Order: sequence, then structure tokens, then C-alpha cells
Amino acid sequence: MTREEAKKRIEELRELINYHNYRYYVLNDPVISDAEYDELMRELKQLEEQFPEFITPDSPTQRVGAPPREEFGTIRHALPMLSLEDARNEQEIRDFDARIKRALGLPPDARIEYVAEPKYDGTSLEIIYENGRYRAAATRGDGITGEDVTPNARTIRTIPLRLLKNDRFPIPERVDVRGEVLMKKADFEALNREREKRGEPLFANPRNAAAGSLRQLDPNITAQRKLDFVAWGLGLVRGMEFRTQEEVLEALSAWGFKTSQPRRLCRGIEEVLEYYREMEERRDDFEYELDGIVVKVNDLSLWDRLGTTARSPRYAFAGKFKPREKTTRLIDVVYQVGRTGIITPVAVLEPVEVGGVIVSRATLHNFDEVRRKDIRIGDYVLVHRAGDVIPEIVKPIKERRTGNEKPIEPPTHCPVCGAPTVREGAYYKCVNIACPAKLKGMLKHMASRHALDIEGLGEKISQLLVDRGLVKDPADLFYLKKEDLLRLPGFAEKSTQNLLDQIEKAKRIPLSRFLFALGIPGVGSHTAKILAQHFETLDDLMKASETDLLSIPGIGPETARSIVTFFREPRNREVIQKFLKAGVTPLPEKRKEVKESPLAGKTVVFTGALKSMTREEAQRLVEDLGGHAASSVSRKTDFVVVGENPGSKYQKALQLGIKILTEEEFLKLVGRA
Ligand code: IVH
Repeated sequence: MTREEAKKRIEELRELINYHNYRYYVLNDPVISDAEYDELMRELKQLEEQFPEFITPDSPTQRVGAPPREEFGTIRHALPMLSLEDARNEQEIRDFDARIKRALGLPPDARIEYVAEPKYDGTSLEIIYENGRYRAAATRGDGITGEDVTPNARTIRTIPLRLLKNDRFPIPERVDVRGEVLMKKADFEALNREREKRGEPLFANPRNAAAGSLRQLDPNITAQRKLDFVAWGLGLVRGMEFRTQEEVLEALSAWGFKTSQPRRLCRGIEEVLEYYREMEERRDDFEYELDGIVVKVNDLSLWDRLGTTARSPRYAFAGKFKPREKTTRLIDVVYQVGRTGIITPVAVLEPVEVGGVIVSRATLHNFDEVRRKDIRIGDYVLVHRAGDVIPEIVKPIKERRTGNEKPIEPPTHCPVCGAPTVREGAYYKCVNIACPAKLKGMLKHMASRHALDIEGLGEKISQLLVDRGLVKDPADLFYLKKEDLLRLPGFAEKSTQNLLDQIEKAKRIPLSRFLFALGIPGVGSHTAKILAQHFETLDDLMKASETDLLSIPGIGPETARSIVTFFREPRNREVIQKFLKAGVTPLPEKRKEVKESPLAGKTVVFTGALKSMTREEAQRLVEDLGGHAASSVSRKTDFVVVGENPGSKYQKALQLGIKILTEEEFLKLVGRA
């Protein structure tokens, strides 16, 4: 690179880094991952090392964080709050060790004593204690001056307002305690769920949530957020001397702080590496997010000998874990059909390495989530992957939009079988009862207790029947032949006969259970019962229009549409015919004796509150007795039943001269009194 090129790139990098500092520190809303930020910083540092003539005091490499926000007062740190240099892998950790030994004039095989601690992914804070009393607290800010967050930090319960007295570590006249303000992963998730409900923007991760919560202008808000504080070191101390970092942590603990745990005293870098590997492996087991380990020379007299650079000390460094967040581009969306017919949108990503694994797909969960996060095709997105969890999209980077991004539309048809989809809450489902993607799940559902109740037809056997091609649609169950089953592994004479007997028994089935077994989206066993009370035969239901269905109490528009779409689908009608041909007989549940009932063919309207039953129960009773429960009064109404505090329907009934019944009269009429 020529001098000119280097100069240009340095300028570019500074501008970029300044912008990202602002997003991160001021807005608590970063638009690139930490790893990508570190990469920019590394490149800038390298160029400045190569061309030191271009270093300026205002270069981002010359300071630690962002300047304090104006709304807050400022506090000058008695000793600067530096940051740590990062080692990104085992080799870089060894390099740090070698550098320390060189600086101390020690041979390469010498073993330095280190304290290794978890590196908490939070936001750092300095708290000033005078004679053991909480005086003030400041964020790191730019390392020299921080924001005065004294009233906010006071609300954090793990920050002692008075240091605990103890014999081993008498309380110094002045001590500046440093540590990390944190939010537990579980509390972060709960906070985001709440914010989601209120339609507020979500925090990208626990660190942003902690920083955002601490830097509230109203400390009452800080108090409501569940923040924690873990102490990892000291700034200025007056009236006391420490010899080792271990001793410092013991003193902090004795004064009443949570300190970094589990930490380890390591002799030599090999023991540090062991700790590093163990911690990276266990990182999901901790209630706080960790992003690495911090390695500190234990002997404080060596700290003075090693000294610091402008940004960071030479006696400590961070061993970073593999980053779990990266940005990449969402190039397409595909749809996956689950065993229950739920269609999940899945983002196809430009492959990117996250946490040691190449990620090229991420779940988008459902369409409510896509809408809420406003994710579009073509967006740059922040991708998160933790442990064995499926990668997720944290948010789109709206700042990088070009205007050519396309919205993600819900699927109108199943990507596997082409059948129409219907909406069920946040989900879209395929209506085809014979969709290959859901066949195994469908069989399991059909066999379940509230459906056909076929004992012995569990997940394993369903799988076997489908895999061997014996069942291609759910009705095939009723065409299974003994000789076919006997050829399957694990099928003996007796168990085969048992299964066939169970299937035979399932043929005479109450209509409601048959409807539930069909797996119509939105039709659970309760709704199936409502339908079976209303329609005498399956045929009647199959002919019903959306309007007919909507007039039934308890059936909403989504379910009505789903039922009509389901029965309109030719493949479903075919399979239903196949069931019936095999001898499956859905038994009517609607009461037959309705002709003799006093309500047969009568239209009844209820108004006001009933004492002996709910409105829905009363309406069901009318329907059971062959009547029709309507919701408004007209000339066609035969009876208006008046409960307590009747509404305008009562007036209308009087006007039209319709027969009015009290609740007691109604109960007498239907033979319930
Ligand atoms: S010691 C000179 N110990 O990581 C700085 N820092 O980039 C000495 N951190 O600013 C820092 N856990 O906010 C130390 N156990 C730990 C830590 C820790 C998290 C943060 C801290 C610091 C940053 C280093």
C-alpha cells in the first residue's frame, strides 16, 4: 500500500469507527457485530503502526470509548479506565504470554502466575467509596471522563451503599471499585418480551440492555430493570496496599461485592489455555453472557514494571471466545412445512461464520415476528447463534437499505404439496390432509386419544408405515392388510391383530372426534364438539358456507375460513370419501328428538345476564333442542328470553309484540326447571 492509499484508508476507517462508536455508546444500538468492529479497529491500528506519521490525537485508536453524553454530568476518573487488548485464539494468547516474559526479561519457558477470570459481556462502571460509603458512580466514557450515573447505579442491589467491615481488609479511606453492570440472559429475554408487547424497540443483546438501562435519565427506570454488578478490579485506592490481583478480588468479596467467578489461579500459560477451553465450552451454562476470559498477571509489582500503552495495560489481556453475532445478507426466504402443517419462513443467508460454524440459514419463526422486526429480502441482518440453538436474526440493519429490499410475504400455497394455506394465529398452515410433509405427524395426531384413539399406533409405527409406503394418506390406515403388517420389523401375530382390532374399533366414531382427527387448522377438540352439535352429518358441515359457520357461537372468522378452505380442497374430499368407503362412520351427536321439542324450528334470542347458565350454554341448549339461537330480534323471532339488565333487544321485542320469557319460564319450557 502506498502512503497515499494508506492515508485515504486511515481516514475512511476513522470515519466508520466514529459512526459505530456513536451507534454503540450513545444510542446503545450497534449496527455491526463486535467482531466486525474489532476488525476495523485492528486494521486501523495496523496501518497507524506502519505509518505512524498519520496518527492524530483524535484517532479512535487514541481513546478508549465514546465521550460522555451531554445530558449527564461528568466525572473524571482518578486513574484512567483503560481497555484490554484482545487475543482471538490460542496462538494469540501464547503470543501475549511471550510478550510479557520478554518485557520482564524472563526466559521463554518461565511460568508467570496469572489470574484468569470470566470476561463479562456488560458495561463497565467505576464506583467511588469514601470511608466505606457510596459517593459516586461513573461509566467508562472515553476512559478519562465518564458519565455521572450516581443516582442510577445506586438502584442496583448488588452495589453496596456501605462496604462491609472485616478484619483482614480494613476499609480504605478512598477506594474506586471497578466492575461490570450486567443483565442476566433470562431477564434480558423477559424485558424484550415486555417491550415487544408494548411495541417498543427491542435490545439486541443483554449488554445493550444493561448499558441502556444504566444510562437512563430517569433513575426510576434503571431501578425497574433487573441489573447486577460484578466487581473485577480497583482504580484509585488511598490508605491501603495490595500485593496480588487475587488479594484484590478477596477484598472486594469481603466488602460485599459479587466478584468474577469461577476464576482460577494459573501457573503458566498452559493452565490459562486449559481454563480458556473449559470456559468456552461451558459458556452457555452461565446466567450471564460471557464473551471471553480476562487474564491478569497476579503479582501487582509486575504491573508497574510492565506499564501501559495509551489504550491498554501490558499486564492483562482478553482471550475472546468465537463471536456469536455477525452481519450478513438475507438473500431469500424459503418455507419449511413442519409435521403439524405449520409453515415456517426460513431466511437464506450469504454464508457467514458465527461461533465457529458456517451459518447459511436462520429461522424467522413466524410472520408476526417478520412483521414486527420488519425484515426484508435483501436486508443486511445481524445473526446470532448460541450453542446448539438454531441461528436467529436479531434485527435488520435498516441503515444499510438501498430501497430495493422486498417484503417477505406469507405463503398462499404449501411449498411441498401446493395446497392452499390458512392462517391460525401467528402461523400459516397447509390444509392438505395428505400433504407428504405432515403425513407422519398427521398419523400420530389421528391415533391420539381425543381423535380416533388407536392404541398402539405411536410415533415409531407411524414412521414405519409411511417409510415403507404402506400409508400414503391418512385413510390408508383403514386399508392395511395383515400380511403387509406381518412383514414389518417387530410385528408379531398378536400385536398385528391388536392393531387391526383397534383400527376396526375406530371406524364407529362420534362426529366430533372424526372432525378433530382430520386436523383442520383451528379446529381443536372443543371446536369440533361445537360443530358436531350444530351439524347432524359430515355432509352438512362440508356444504356449510363461511356465513353459515360464522352464525355458530364460538366459531370465529379465521376458523370459518379454515373449515371452508379445508373442505373445498379436492384432495381432502377424496381422502374423506376413502375413509367412508373403508367403513368409517362418523356418528351424529346432534340430538334427534328435536321434533317433539317445544323449541323445534323456533328462533330464540337472549338478552341480559342469565343466572343459571352462560349465554353460550343457553344458546347451545336451544340448538340441541332443534331451535335456532339468533343474536338480534326480528319479526321472525319466536321467543325473547330476558335475563338481568336486558338491553335494547327487550325494547324491540316489546315493540314487535314477540313472546317474552323470563329465565324461569324458559327453563320450564325446556324441561330444566
Ligand atoms: S479487567 C484495563 N476483568 O472488559 C482494563 N475487565 O476490554 C481492565 N470486563 O473494560 C479490565 N469482565 O468492561 C476486567 N473480569 C474482568 C472483566 C472485564 C469484563 C470488561 C471491562 C473492560 C473490558 C475490557
